[in-house]
Amino acid sequence: MTSVASLRRRLLDWYDRHRRDLPWRAPPGARADPYRVWLSEVMLQQTTTSHAAPYFAHFTQRWPTVRDLAEAPEAEIMAAWAGLGYYARARNLIACARAVQAAGGVFPDTEEGLRALPGFGPYTAAAVAAIAFDRPATVVDGNVERVMARLFAVDEPLPSSKPSLRALAARFTRETRPGDWAQALMDLGATVCRPRSPLCESCPLASDCVAAARGVPETWPRKTPRAERPLRHGVAFVLRDQDRVGLVQRPSRGLLGGMLGLPTTDWRAAPWSRPEALACAPAPGPWRLLGGVQHAFTHFPLELEVYVARGGVRPGLDLTWTPLTEAIAATPTVFAKALRLALAQDDEPGAAS
Ligand code: ADE
Ligand code: SF4
Repeated sequence: MTSVASLRRRLLDWYDRHRRDLPWRAPPGARADPYRVWLSEVMLQQTTTSHAAPYFAHFTQRWPTVRDLAEAPEAEIMAAWAGLGYYARARNLIACARAVQAAGGVFPDTEEGLRALPGFGPYTAAAVAAIAFDRPATVVDGNVERVMARLFAVDEPLPSSKPSLRALAARFTRETRPGDWAQALMDLGATVCRPRSPLCESCPLASDCVAAARGVPETWPRKTPRAERPLRHGVAFVLRDQDRVGLVQRPSRGLLGGMLGLPTTDWRAAPWSRPEALACAPAPGPWRLLGGVQHAFTHFPLELEVYVARGGVRPGLDLTWTPLTEAIAATPTVFAKALRLALAQDDEPGAAS
């Protein structure tokens, strides 16, 4: 019979020995800085710890406190966020920093108080309450769902099993060490109870795990097949002037909203013919096809053809001229991929400049 107390003790003991040393973590026993916890949790919602770490280092170096972030120009923050994805989240980040600063520069220390801030959903509020303020909040991310689904061999598929998995996770929430408990589950999910090939022989919970007992733990969590994500096609235009490229600011609503990007056609189901595409170009050209890049957005994969030309902007078009390498750093990944094609072409022997 699974005992909550015994499972908790074993996992917390395991955490004390195997916890990952991550840049946003306070040393064992120390209080974490709410600003750093919040920033890291927002960054980590859709990406891995290794992808987020350099962004976290850059942000905390450049804006060490919530006040610094609140007072920074929005465009600089958006450019620094480029490559992390989910750009609406970056705008919420700015709104939240300003709301916290307006309220005296101190984060609320309860789950409910945090929920009222811009961009704080149930996950972020619970994670910051538990990790920064040691509140007994139930933190449920994909790692926690996976561990619960396996521990109890939950056969109902995701996403409809989410409420049951949350209820199972809540059975383990206690007043003692809630922040460590949340992070222990995340670390177990990331390093032992991995999506593929879980390391059950090294798992402190193995003797109570129903999925491990059945022999194929990696087949949990069950999943409802994802809806088809129909392929889309687009064309991007790299307009060059010396070492700079012309960027446009995307509308604040919609995909990649508010970010700097390359001028493009719409992204649609049918491929673009060359004349159709060039009718959308920001300059008369002549345009040369550089190649294609692919990018997987959450809701569709994109095939983007990349054209390049020099000089001659169509009147009325407001382009931000940016050095190529800077543009690669300051634009969302899909545009950075296209810009890298242009950079690679510069490096070819005999490239015209
Ligand atoms: N993923 C999201 N938040 C995390 C944290 N605090 N530690 C480890 N992995 C995480
Ligand atoms: Fe995951 Fe295996 Fe541990 Fe079960 S025993 S929780 S499947 S790592």
